[in-house]
Amino acid sequence: MAIALRPALPADAPALAALFRASVEVLGAEDYSEAQVEAWSALADDEAEFAKKLATKLTIVALADGALAGFGALKGTDFLDMLYVHPNFSRRGVASALCDALEKLSLARHAKKLTVDASDSAEKFFSRRGYVAQRRNMTFLGEEVLGNTTMTKELPAMTGPTQ
Ligand SMILES: CC(C)(COP(=O)(O)OP(=O)(O)OC[C@H]1O[C@@H](n2cnc3c(N)ncnc32)[C@H](O)[C@@H]1OP(=O)(O)O)[C@@H](O)C(=O)NCCC(=O)NCCS
Repeated sequence: MAIALRPALPADAPALAALFRASVEVLGAEDYSEAQVEAWSALADDEAEFAKKLATKLTIVALADGALAGFGALKGTDFLDMLYVHPNFSRRGVASALCDALEKLSLARHAKKLTVDASDSAEKFFSRRGYVAQRRNMTFLGEEVLGNTTMTKELPAMTGPTQ
């Protein structure tokens, strides 16, 4: 399977919202209750709002053999804000390719450390990449409370000319 990355375009928003929902409904359901999954996936119900969220970040999409397989976003210099893979492409290196790129982009923005609020479904993925758990959080979505874990990774020092 060939994975290619490109920046997200405004026209991708409806497809990314659908991918987000599928990802949460299938992969998120392994670690969260049905009601929690419903509240989480509803974050993409307002597509205009969802598109706005993507547009305010550096969002990249992954294509697997040309099909939309996942996306990830960097907020500011050092916060990995979203990382979602379509269940049809799970455990095939899509999130790894996205994360490799987002870590490089963060480094290029001179961040020393990257932070993510990792869902329980993503914690093993991030810990395998060298992210270290810092604290547990509770996120309130409507009447539901979802736990996640703030994790950080020290980025390697930038090499090359400095100013
Ligand atoms: C977490 C997520 C992004 C991982 O995407 P992915 O493309 O399947 O990840 P990769 O294939 O790059 O995984 C690389 C390695 O991470 C680890 N890993 C990934 N998912 C894992 C899981 N569910 N359980 C245990 N280890 C996991 C494995 O070591 C894996 O290597 P392997 O498949 O050779 O064993 C995906 O499951 C997802 O979208 N989950 C739902 C949404 C979510 O929780 N997003 C994160 C919000 S912070």
